[in-house]
Amino acid sequence: MRRRVWSLALPVVALWCLQALPALAQEEADEAPAYSRNGADTCLRCHGEEVVGIFRTKHAQPNDPRTPFGHGQLQCEACHGPGGAHTKRPKKGEERTPVIQFGEGAVTPVRQQNEMCLGCHNSYVGDWHTSAHDDNEVGCADCHSSHDPRDPVRTKATQAEVCGGCHQIQKANMLQPFAHPLREGQMACTSCHSPHGSLSEASLKKDTINQACYECHADKRGPFLWEHQPVGEDCTLCHQPHGSAHPAMLAQRPPFLCQQCHGQEGHPSVPGLPSGLPGGTPSASLLAVGCANCHSQVHGSNHPSGARLSR
Ligand code: HEC
Ligand code: HEC
Ligand code: HEC
Ligand code: HEC
Ligand code: HEC
Ligand code: HEC
Ligand code: HEC
Ligand code: HEC
Ligand code: HEC
Ligand code: HEC
Repeated sequence: MRRRVWSLALPVVALWCLQALPALAQEEADEAPAYSRNGADTCLRCHGEEVVGIFRTKHAQPNDPRTPFGHGQLQCEACHGPGGAHTKRPKKGEERTPVIQFGEGAVTPVRQQNEMCLGCHNSYVGDWHTSAHDDNEVGCADCHSSHDPRDPVRTKATQAEVCGGCHQIQKANMLQPFAHPLREGQMACTSCHSPHGSLSEASLKKDTINQACYECHADKRGPFLWEHQPVGEDCTLCHQPHGSAHPAMLAQRPPFLCQQCHGQEGHPSVPGLPSGLPGGTPSASLLAVGCANCHSQVHGSNHPSGARLSR
């Protein structure tokens, strides 16, 4: 297995080696940490199978000088930093000089890891540096698998697994009986969220929660002749976007959902005492299971006599 991967990688590596001469010719400066002599070829003397997936990613485009393996670039060391000292055999009793490491358990501080990526991906700098992820020292490599050509976080079907590693509550909600089709791989967390941050609440892709929902549920946008005030305000007053145990991802079951805001005066919106008991009267409104059975147009109505949202 190991052999096969090598035989695939070698010719390609040889090609890069030729094209990357300028960078690799860099002299060993006195104090500045030095780069390895032969770039990726040096590294591949000791690192094999576990790293070669990177040659099948967009980072490995010899003809695109902006990529780490492009002409004149530093190859592995574009991300891992100068590796000259690391490639040398450690003195007795000493540890091998580390290169920049990424991901969980890495010795390199997260901000320094991220700088390696942001050096080329500076278009993210703005939003990233105001994001909750940056604030909490989440690394680019906590989400991205740079050596994996599939990069699970950018694949719809596997993304929720990556995010769910840290966001257990949302992951659990997604598995509730009523949820957006993330499990099925039809949607992803990034259908609503911007992973690199945004100026909106909860790093949503759109300016407001409702705008995020209208993107796919345009029929709920209105304007309606008869509006239901909370609907235009915030869909999450009634719905849990990550999933819930109640049909239509409701935060609670009617009538309780509705009774958070609607009192009992005038309209019998609480169960009457069972008719068998003294003083008990059955409530027609509640015998009909849920409020939405009569008030079926909970999102707003365009019917001339739809003021009660019932048609
Ligand atoms: C002479 C063999 C040798 C060479 C050449 C070499 N490495 Fe290593 N590297 C190791 C060993 C052994 C380890 C693991 C133990 C350690 O860190 O001391 C390691 C660890 C690493 C790690 C950390 C792995 C982890 O678990 O996080 C990275 C990243 C790495 N090397 C990258 C490189 C890069 C990039 C190059 C080329 C510039 C390179 N190595 C060249 C032997 C080598
Ligand atoms: C030497 C510059 C350079 C460095 C360093 C670099 N990248 Fe990139 N990266 C690029 C370029 C250029 C592209 C665009 C390739 C294209 O669109 O063809 C890219 C593409 C990507 C993509 C999209 C890949 C795809 O298949 O569309 C991701 C994700 C990414 N980089 C993440 C990272 C992360 C994470 C790091 C740090 C661990 C990093 N990059 C370090 C230059 C770099
Ligand atoms: C919270 C997880 C997460 C973190 C942290 C993260 N990314 Fe991403 N990144 C993603 C996802 C998900 C996508 C795919 C975007 C999409 O589907 O809309 C992506 C896409 C990209 C792309 C490709 C962009 C494109 O337009 O195709 C690049 C480049 C990239 N990320 C670089 C970075 C860099 C650099 C960092 C660190 C500063 C970083 N990412 C941190 C999740 C993350
Ligand atoms: C685009 C930036 C980038 C480039 C280029 C790159 N790496 Fe990495 N490397 C990473 C990141 C990020 C990780 C953390 C694990 C992951 O994302 O897959 C990593 C992990 C590693 C590890 C630890 C592997 C493990 O499974 O624990 C080694 C060893 C390594 N890289 C060596 C190399 C070598 C050798 C090269 C050149 C052939 C190279 N890297 C090129 C970003 C890069
Ligand atoms: C390594 C752990 C980690 C991973 C992986 C991760 N996150 Fe986070 N995320 C955090 C932390 C820590 C915070 C800040 C504290 C909090 O809100 O829980 C956060 C916050 C958030 C927030 C709230 C943002 C805000 O502005 O309030 C959203 C939304 C979010 N993450 C979405 C995602 C998505 C989508 C993914 C996958 C693409 C993801 N996260 C992957 C750790 C992670
Ligand atoms: C249908 C749109 C949608 C999808 C898909 C979605 N979210 Fe959210 N998410 C929201 C909205 C809206 C909010 C803000 C209101 C709320 O917290 O209910 C939010 C809030 C969050 C928060 C912040 C919670 C807090 O208490 O501050 C995190 C973290 C988060 N989402 C993670 C995720 C993760 C991880 C996924 C994928 C498993 C995901 N979201 C999928 C719409 C979505
Ligand atoms: C990227 C598109 C997309 C976005 C954005 C989106 N949804 Fe959805 N929504 C869907 C899909 C697809 C379904 C599943 C439809 C089906 O199964 O018939 C769905 C289903 C629903 C359902 C349940 C329908 C049912 O019959 O059980 C509710 C409620 C809902 N979404 C509310 C929201 C809210 C609230 C938001 C904003 C926070 C939102 N959606 C954002 C695509 C989206
Ligand atoms: C006042 C509470 C409330 C608010 C606010 C609300 N909904 Fe609903 N929604 C409901 C109820 C109740 C149902 C179930 C209706 C039924 O059982 O017939 C529902 C059902 C849905 C459905 C599935 C059935 C259908 O009609 O397509 C979607 C999608 C939906 N809502 C999206 C939204 C969106 C998007 C918003 C924000 C613009 C929103 N809802 C705001 C109460 C609300
Ligand atoms: C977050 C608070 C909230 C929730 C939850 C809520 N409503 Fe409302 N509802 C309002 C407000 C505010 C009005 C406007 C009241 C007014 O104009 O006097 C309203 C108006 C109405 C009206 C029209 C009443 C009139 O006098 O014009 C009906 C019918 C109604 N709601 C039914 C429901 C039903 C059924 C539910 C549950 C599915 C529900 N509401 C959930 C806040 C809420
Ligand atoms: C059997 C059908 C039915 C059910 C079930 C029902 N309603 Fe009504 N509702 C009506 C009718 C009819 C009106 C108009 C009454 C009027 O104009 O005097 C009304 C009026 C209202 C109004 C307008 C204000 C008022 O008191 O006149 C609100 C708010 C309301 N209902 C909320 C609810 C809530 C909340 C529930 C569930 C707990 C519910 N309704 C269940 C038929 C129903």
